[in-house]
Amino acid sequence: MDSDLIKLVNKLQDTFSNLGDSIGGELDMPQLVVVGSQSAGKSSVLETIVGRDFLPRGQGIVTRRPLVLQLIHTPIPGPSSLSPDAGHTEWGQFLHIDKRFTDFNEIRKEIEQETFRVAGQNKGVSKLPISLRIYSPDVLDLTLVDLPGLTKIPVGDQPSDIERQIRNLVTDYISRPNSVILAVSPANVDLANSDSLKLARSVDPQGRRTIGVLTKLDLMDAGTNALDILTGRVYPLKLGFIGCVNRSQQDINAEKSMEDARETETEFFKNHSAYRNIAHKNGTKYLARTLNQVLMNHIRDKLPDMKARLNTLMGQAQQELNSFGDSAVYGDKNHQGQLILRLMTQFARDFVSSIEGTNVDIS
Ligand code: GDP
Ligand code: NA
Ligand code: MG
Repeated sequence: MDSDLIKLVNKLQDTFSNLGDSIGGELDMPQLVVVGSQSAGKSSVLETIVGRDFLPRGQGIVTRRPLVLQLIHTPIPGPSSLSPDAGHTEWGQFLHIDKRFTDFNEIRKEIEQETFRVAGQNKGVSKLPISLRIYSPDVLDLTLVDLPGLTKIPVGDQPSDIERQIRNLVTDYISRPNSVILAVSPANVDLANSDSLKLARSVDPQGRRTIGVLTKLDLMDAGTNALDILTGRVYPLKLGFIGCVNRSQQDINAEKSMEDARETETEFFKNHSAYRNIAHKNGTKYLARTLNQVLMNHIRDKLPDMKARLNTLMGQAQQELNSFGDSAVYGDKNHQGQLILRLMTQFARDFVSSIEGTNVDIS
């Protein structure tokens, strides 16, 4: 994630929590929800957004419970930190188990075990979410949701109405107006059959909060390409389509690193005769930048209301300050109150002007 955005959001959130006002939640950051058919590459896309390997991925139905992943920004601990986790700046914590996970492979194993525990051994799906928080200095406070893939035919222990059940589950998450939908479609399947786009359209008919993600561009038939889709000539979405090349199953088995995977992806777009000219508007890095833009726009939309609330707070503080009158000058209790109010007012003023001075377009 863009570090300016991380700083801005943290500043906003810190300010409101410092002011002790209930508007801390007002920023109400969007949650990103991935939608797509089974094995479209949803978990792979989410992982690259977070920039860490920790989600179970693979052939067939792997994600069998919703995973609600909260990224939580934490400051880098000082050198004098005496906590047992000193030296670990990133860790995961599940809601269902009281333990800090600093090894991301362990996080993946825990997701797998917890999936088995509730959804059974045999391909069953449960709507009970797994809640995972990732604490890191490199993330933005943001919620990402990984969901089971849309399927048609029941397998294993799945009930006969599995298609409808998963559809309802997914609809639950993406119908929230605060959700940004990452509609994932594999490029080696005709887009006309894309379940993700069909479902996204049912809750976002204007295509305002849906980003089309086209995975598996490397697996298209020789002689075909997705240029028309990627340039928006096939299906209209305001936020457009972004092509990605994630790690193949073979790459995963060989433990290919994220950095190497990004490198391969960049080379793919740069060297492909059909995509060369749109290389800069595709790939995981561009997807991350697009998400940043969406989040920036969201914050920008919220700012006028937040500024108005800050002004009200400042007005109230000023009134209280005046009511202390002259007694406040002398060393009684009110003096402290006055000082706090003055600091608070100054802080709020600084805050508003600092927001106005950021390079974010907040007109
Ligand atoms: P999900 O079921 O939608 O969450 O999909 P996964 O992320 O688990 O991926 C399913 C399989 O497709 C895995 O074996 C991935 O390695 C593979 N895969 C995902 N994206 C790509 C891609 O862009 N190219 C290739 N070659 N394989 C991919
Ligand atoms: Na899968
Ligand atoms: Mg998955």
